[in-house]
Amino acid sequence: MPVPRDLYRRISGSFPTGVVIVATLDAEGRPRGLLTQAYLGLSTEPPLMLIALDATSRTLPALRQHGAFVLNFLRAGSEDLATLFASKSDEKFRDVRWSPSPEARGAPIIRDACVAYAACNVTQTIEAGDHWLFVGSVEAGEAFGGTPLMYYRRRYAPWPEERLAPPIEEA
Ligand SMILES: Cc1cc2nc3c(=O)[nH]c(=O)nc-3n(C[C@H](O)[C@H](O)[C@H](O)COP(=O)(O)O)c2cc1C
Repeated sequence: MPVPRDLYRRISGSFPTGVVIVATLDAEGRPRGLLTQAYLGLSTEPPLMLIALDATSRTLPALRQHGAFVLNFLRAGSEDLATLFASKSDEKFRDVRWSPSPEARGAPIIRDACVAYAACNVTQTIEAGDHWLFVGSVEAGEAFGGTPLMYYRRRYAPWPEERLAPPIEEA
């Protein structure tokens, strides 16, 4: 018998993550997007990334139709933007500076708010429970560095660089 919803939430809520704005264009060419934490760096060769969108997401139809998206990996200081993109606002991009990614058919790059971005073309779409999974082939991207924004137990915080142990030696 599957675990109850409350336990499921407490288990998955025990896992801190970074946060990502998934951005795409709708049928009229308007920017659409949402905040996500369900991200997976799926494959290096070929380069693939996976995201999961709730079936009720208003960005979902746009993403399914457009077939391309940009993952904007948020940096510390982007908490207000994270809150905006976790909302149901129709005006999420009104005050946001973005540029179109040529490799993701014009999907928005939000450069000012990112430690990195990845421009992806959808290669697989899978319905899974109450979510849709999108596998994207990474066609372009940049990694700017800086401090990422983290999410844990309904709070945002910068990655605590100064409290970290020395890096693990590569095998
Ligand atoms: C930290 C955090 C992580 C989230 N992760 C996801 C996610 O991985 N997938 C998803 O569909 N929604 C996720 N959400 C919820 C969406 O951001 C939220 O439902 C949003 O209003 C959807 O916007 P839309 O309906 O305009 O697409 C997350 C919210 C927060 C605060």
